[in-house]
Parts: sequence; C-alpha cells; structure tokens
Amino acid sequence: MGERWYTESVIYCLDVETFQDSNGDGIGDFQGLISRLDYLTRLGINCLWLHPIHPTPGRDDGYDATDFYNVDPRLGTLGDFAELLHEAANRGIKVIIDLVVNHTSDEHPWFQSAVASKDSPYRDWYVWSDKEPADRFQGMVFPGEQAETWTYHRRARAWYYHRFYDFQPDLNFANPLVRAEIKKILAFWIQLGVAGFRMDAVPFIIELTEPGRTDSPMDFDYLSELRQHIQWRRGDAVLLAEANVEPEKLPEYFGDAGGSGNRIHMLFDFMLNGRLVLALARQNPEPVIDWLKTTPKLPPGGQWATFLRNHDEIDLSRLTAEQREDVFEQFGPDEDMRLYDRGIRRRLGPMLGGDRRRLEMAYSLQFTLRGTPVLRYGEEIGMGEDLSQVGRYAIRTPMQWSFAKNGGFSDAEPIRPVISKGDYAYDAVNVTAQRHDPGSLLAWFERMIRTLRESPEVGSGTCACVDKPLPAGVLAHRADGPTGSMLFLHNLGTEDAVVDLGDLAKDTHLPNDVFADQEYEPVGDFTELRLAGYGYRWIRLRRSSV
Ligand code: GLC
Ligand code: CA
Repeated sequence: MGERWYTESVIYCLDVETFQDSNGDGIGDFQGLISRLDYLTRLGINCLWLHPIHPTPGRDDGYDATDFYNVDPRLGTLGDFAELLHEAANRGIKVIIDLVVNHTSDEHPWFQSAVASKDSPYRDWYVWSDKEPADRFQGMVFPGEQAETWTYHRRARAWYYHRFYDFQPDLNFANPLVRAEIKKILAFWIQLGVAGFRMDAVPFIIELTEPGRTDSPMDFDYLSELRQHIQWRRGDAVLLAEANVEPEKLPEYFGDAGGSGNRIHMLFDFMLNGRLVLALARQNPEPVIDWLKTTPKLPPGGQWATFLRNHDEIDLSRLTAEQREDVFEQFGPDEDMRLYDRGIRRRLGPMLGGDRRRLEMAYSLQFTLRGTPVLRYGEEIGMGEDLSQVGRYAIRTPMQWSFAKNGGFSDAEPIRPVISKGDYAYDAVNVTAQRHDPGSLLAWFERMIRTLRESPEVGSGTCACVDKPLPAGVLAHRADGPTGSMLFLHNLGTEDAVVDLGDLAKDTHLPNDVFADQEYEPVGDFTELRLAGYGYRWIRLRRSSV
C-alpha cells in the first residue's frame, strides 16, 4: 500500500447500533461488531467509518451528542471501543468515526448551562441573538421537518441558532474556547487509536454566523489548523468531510499551500453521486462524463470519496429540476420514496428493480471511478428499504445476517424492525445464504473488491474518459498510475454493444480482462470489444514494476 493509505482503501460505513447485537438487548454494540470483523476482512474492506458513537438522546440518530468524550453506553464501554480498535488493527482495518461538532444536542451540559444564565461560562459557546433575527426562516436543511433556523429559548431569554433541527444548537466557532475544545476532542480519539474522522456538516462548522446575515464569512483557516493539529498527533490520520457545496467552492476545502493540500484530505463527491444516479436513470453516461471533465483539480494528496448510497437520502439538489424529475420517475415513482423534495430514501437494490446485472454494473462503475469507494453496510448483499419507517430510517434497518429470528441481528426485540416481509426480507436476503453461494452478490462484491485492491491505479492514479465516439449507453474510462494502466468499459443501457478502441493497442502489454460480468472473447487488438447490456469489463492494459 502506498504512502497515503486512504487513496487505496475501501471504506465500509455502518451504525454500530444496527449491525450486530451481542448481549440480547436488541441494540447493536461494539462486541457485536468485533464478532463480525472477520466477515468484513473477508469482504476485503480496510477502513470502517462508524456513524456517531457518543452518548445521545437519539433524536437525530446520534447526530446529536451529549458528550464528545465518551461512547453511548448502549453500545458498550470505552474499553470495548478500544478493543474494537485493537481487533480491527490486527486485521489491517482502520477505523474512522463521525465527528459531529457543528452542533450539540440541546441536552448537552454545555447548552444546559448556557441557557441557565447569561453569566454561564458556556453562554458564548453557542450562537445567540437578543432580537428576532431577519433570517429566522432561512437556511433550513430539513424543509418540512424544520420550521426555522433561529428559535426563541424562554429560559435563556434569547434566540439561538440551529442549522439543523431545533434540538441541535450550533456551537459558536468564533469563540476561541470552542475551537480549542474541538481540537481536544480530535486529539482524544486519535490518542485512543482512530485513524481519522468523517467530519459532519463542514460548511456550517466554519461559518461565522451573525444574526440576520445569510452570507456569513467562512473561516477556512480553521480547517488548516485542525489538519495540522491531528497530523502532529498521528501522521497518517485523515479528515473526510461532508461538504455538499457548489463545485467551484470545493477546492477551498482541500486547501493548497505551496502546491500541497493542507486542509481536508478527502471530500465526499456529492456531485458525482447525483450524476451517477442520473446516468443510471437515463441509461446514458453523459452526466458522469461531464462531471469527470469539469471536476476541479485537486491539490496533491486531495482525494474524492465516491458513493452510490449513504445513510441519508440520495441528495439530488444539485441536479436541474428536469434531471431530478427523470430520476424520481425511474427510482422514486411514489411520493413515499422521496424526502425533502430533493432526495430518495431507498437502497440501491430495489431502486434498480432488483436487477442483479444492473446492480453489479452500477457498483462496478462507482468502484472504478477515481477516488476511494465508500460502501454502506448491507449493500453488499443487496438489502432493501422499509418505507414504513419514518424519513431516513427507511434505509437504516438492522443488518441481515441469517435465517434466524430477526435475521440473526438480535435475539431480542430489535431497536428498529428487521425487514421481514417481501422480496428483501431477511429470509430472502442474508449473509449466510449468500456466503454458501459462489454466485451470490456477496461473493461478487468480495471478488470485485479484491480485484480493485490489485488495481491501485484506480485510487491513486489519474482517471480519464476515453474520448472517442462510443455506442449509446457505453462509458469507457482509464486509470493510469505508477503501477500501470487499466481500462474500464461500462454499458449503462440494455442493448449489447461492440466497442472499437483500436488506438489503445499500441501502448499496452499483454492486455487482458481481470474482471467482467461474463467471459468475453480475448481483448485482441481492441477493435471489437463486446459488451453485453448492463455489462462491464476491467481490462489491464499494462503493469509496471515499480
Ligand atoms: C449530516 C448527516 C445527517 C445529520 C446531519 C445533522 O448531514 O449526514 O445524517 O442529520 O448532518 O448532523
Ligand atoms: Ca446490545
């Protein structure tokens, strides 16, 4: 593995409380997760991203913490967490955790103290206004569920700011004490052994909110400070940020000091996510090609994190109204499948009509595009959603391990119902069944991830679309790096195709298919590359001995 481990990794994200219960209380826990590390090792992932693990009243699934220096007792103890880090490290798996410091829970002792008195040392840790701010009804993240961004607090006799729900008061980043505290939190977890952080809501963290202003100044330097801070503590620690902003603003988050990234190491590619989903809906790769061509250039060390599914709704807000309509029509035809007028609350399997070929093609495409792929738990077995759950909980159901009661997740009544009816019920979709079947989706994911890890140029090399007229629906792209070159063909449409890439023959050495949806004729001189409908081929062009 290269110097920058995160460029050649596969990240798997999960919520401890819905992964595996070990003590029969219906709630997943660290010991349960430890017992499943061998499963994850076999899958081939090498980095785990854990959704929030701190104590929480759980009103936003843990994204509302009451103590940043502890773990939710329902998940286990700090000792169990340290054991998890040790066991994961033994298997070559790094662990990163969600860092949600834009806000706290309103039950956090800091906020409780802040509202109790104007003289509280924590008063200035939050963002206040004595008068009703003019932007009270602006900037909501959860339209429909959230009425305002400033709420009057009777006890505090003032208005407090909250970008998200009203039970998530924003911390005041203009206050040096808050800035220092956040650094302490990062250092604490690094000291315990985490490899980095998935930073929640970064644009709102660095926003220096002023009442009545909708264009508050942004303090990007704080990101450089954080980067420096963690790097002194652990040289290879990474920051992976959620910043769903306009593309031209993205480079600032990576930073660039003297030709090298100096802020966030990795950003989720929200633009690519929307475009991938649009391309799948239209069976046309154009939106992806457009984005690959116009992606801002990253400073050295900067990396994209790609995803098809995450723990939230699929956010289509960066598509045009017409594009969004096309996606809704294909993948979210019922009102109930949509969320906040901008997203889809479904998993990929059902979205693609349970079509195994199309699902493989979609994941093959995500995993071969530049960046580090992120895979959400359960996608590797093709889990479905439960639309009877409210909002985003539809896609946060417990992991389906076996035919046993509650899918083997827990003996007790689970924290959230396991999917037990329909095509995606646990007796139809589970790990045990797929483990025994070499033709299963799980077996496919294992092979695909292993092949990817033999192809480091995908994560750490360049990525370019092959600029040549191709049959409708087909995308051809290549990855080039010090270790060699790979060519990838994907057919987003249903029609079989023949691709002529004759020009490629000259700078290759013994080209061959290393992974594909089926056996194809040898590559030959590249003039007649066949590709089935929804087919894909990974062709190694060259391997260098570096
Ligand atoms: C991020 C998380 C989301 C959460 C929100 C508030 O967007 O992904 O799940 O609700 O932040 O913390
Ligand atoms: Ca438990």
